[in-house]
Amino acid sequence: MDFLVSLAPMAGIADRAYRTTARRYGADCTTSEMISAKGLTYGDEKTAALCSTAEKDAVPYGIQLFGAEPEFMQKAVIKLQEIGSNPDFIDLNMGCPVPKVTGTGAGAALMRTPETAAEIVRACVAVSHVPITVKMRIGWDLEHINALEFAQLMEEAGASALTVHGRTKVQGYSGKVNLNYIWRVKASVKIPVIGNGDISSPEEAKLMRDFTGVDGIAVGRGSYGSPWIFTQIKDYLKNGEYAPAPPIEERLEIMSQQVKLAVSLKGEHTAMREARTQCAFYLKGFPGAANFRKECSELTRFEDLEEIVGQIITQSKEIL
Ligand SMILES: Cc1cc2nc3c(=O)[nH]c(=O)nc-3n(C[C@H](O)[C@H](O)[C@H](O)COP(=O)(O)O)c2cc1C
Repeated sequence: MDFLVSLAPMAGIADRAYRTTARRYGADCTTSEMISAKGLTYGDEKTAALCSTAEKDAVPYGIQLFGAEPEFMQKAVIKLQEIGSNPDFIDLNMGCPVPKVTGTGAGAALMRTPETAAEIVRACVAVSHVPITVKMRIGWDLEHINALEFAQLMEEAGASALTVHGRTKVQGYSGKVNLNYIWRVKASVKIPVIGNGDISSPEEAKLMRDFTGVDGIAVGRGSYGSPWIFTQIKDYLKNGEYAPAPPIEERLEIMSQQVKLAVSLKGEHTAMREARTQCAFYLKGFPGAANFRKECSELTRFEDLEEIVGQIITQSKEIL
């Protein structure tokens, strides 16, 4: 297997338009936003819509499920097959730290109940037509780091690969990612391990690969408003060098294309509200960006975005 440079799943951010853009700019693999196993089982339409994919973001494409009960997780896998959603793998969320999720015993809470986690994997593997993978953290808190035992248990239960975010649940997204535990997990299982956490440059990607020996990496926040990071990382890992980020006009074009795609998939009302966040990512660090970001924070129509883009291009030409 070639070293995999993938996009990490991000609920509320990495929707289909985001994933398609990431693929276009080099991501080898993408995963859906986390999807409630219960919601899917009960036939919730919004939940089913999260599973939708397209040719361009299809290979390899994973759907991520979250839930606490083996029975519902299994039913959700069957449901995916019934509704004709054909992911290349199904990922099980065992890393989400959000209280709404952990409070039900799902997400990172499963690291406190490894037997249930293993049962979930077995139940899903038993009915799935595609590989089942697990996304985990290194433990609940610093006093309860169980990444190694947990990873081995997931492997024994039938998981085909693991993504390890090198933080505890209690750390959330603070502090630095712990590469040491990722390295130790990699050394303790035979299945592929994807390293995750704090990769926002090609150099950090190389450090993760070289230090831990992982089979791939997953980039989350480092891809905010910069989908070309995937190509930069791949170039750097291969040749030791990479092209700088594209010029402003091209970046704005990529942003507009992403938002346009989101509009076609979700409708203007929803997509333009979500575009406020996406545009703020893309406009970070631009000359005079604060004003434009403020304008973007009120977006409701795609044509308004086109106007803002025009203004930014005009202004950037004046500065140069
Ligand atoms: C806004 C946001 C949403 C996320 N949603 C998910 C999710 O749905 N499923 C999941 O497994 N991880 C989720 N994560 C965690 C990321 O996949 C990743 O593990 C984490 O952000 C660390 O990687 P990074 O430093 O590259 O961002 C989310 C993270 C963020 C910031």
